[in-house]
Amino acid sequence: MTRLSGITPSGHIHLGNHLGAIRRWAAESEPDDLYFVSDLHAMTLPYRPERLRALTRENLAVLLAAGIDPGSVFVQSDLVGELGALNWVLECTCGYGEAARMIQFKEKAAEQDSARLGLLTYPVLMAADILLQGASEIPVGNDQNQHVELARTLARRFNASYGEVFTVPAAAVPRAAAGVRDLADPGRKMAKSAQQQNGVVFVLDEPDVAQRKINRAKTDDLRDVRYEPEQRPGLANLIEILAVCTGVSPYAAARTATTYAQLKDAVAEAVLEELRPVRERARELLDDPGELERVREKGARQAAERASSRLGAALRVAGLR
Ligand code: TYM
Repeated sequence: MTRLSGITPSGHIHLGNHLGAIRRWAAESEPDDLYFVSDLHAMTLPYRPERLRALTRENLAVLLAAGIDPGSVFVQSDLVGELGALNWVLECTCGYGEAARMIQFKEKAAEQDSARLGLLTYPVLMAADILLQGASEIPVGNDQNQHVELARTLARRFNASYGEVFTVPAAAVPRAAAGVRDLADPGRKMAKSAQQQNGVVFVLDEPDVAQRKINRAKTDDLRDVRYEPEQRPGLANLIEILAVCTGVSPYAAARTATTYAQLKDAVAEAVLEELRPVRERARELLDDPGELERVREKGARQAAERASSRLGAALRVAGLR
């Protein structure tokens, strides 16, 4: 079984990415798994090339610092040729309506004056990421579930139309922390692109900055600490963060504090403890560009080797060779 997943360098990696995705990737990592920085996906919204380059490096450093095996990581654009080819084949396997139905497209397009075509087709590129490598399990937070479903549909359709080439993938969504909320605005998920960043704890935040964001987290006017995700989303978010960091259920985590102040202190302590080794290791890696470059080159070679026979088979059965 191959697990595969990616992270888009549209901003700094935050606590939601870490708890909902990266932490699990590292914990479950097997030699065959693949984790990558999806820099091509960061082009779907307006961006600055210099910043993208820096964030790609930074995201790669954080993946390694979180404990993912250096032999399992790569940068998506290092496979731009292979992915571009498969992307086209899959675009010609996907209906316009299927792409236009994606929730993330609808949300993000609504915020733009003129949405880029890549914003519409990006889930197809994501399907290419997955299918090119023959991945079977895709560990993601719940916001990516619909995109993995599309990859499943396209794999099945392609196989049925032209020949069995692709493994049909399935999403693996964690039970807890699949959707960490913004601390200042629990109505929204924690996101790299948030306009206001006081509710977003970044993995590389200095401890005092992270602590301040947690202490100011929005809760409610009730006083007792109880886990009620529907009625009290801000409080439930803090409890879930604590639960995941300390490895207990949300109900058990809620029982460890009686006041909101106590709960926030416990959350801050657990989060700082969780992020400290990752931040320290990432800083070391970022100070050693040679090492990051070596990991990147090796990852690119391996991923390209892995991709080549499957891409060849797909092009052949599709009538191109
Ligand atoms: P991205 O960069 O938005 O997010 C990376 C991972 O973090 C998860 N995540 C969250 N989990 C919990 N709470 C949150 N608030 C939160 N925000 C994000 C996401 O679910 C994801 O698992 N398109 C993808 C990257 C990608 C990919 C792929 C993933 C590109 N190709 C192929 C899987 C397979 C993305 O932009 O993730």
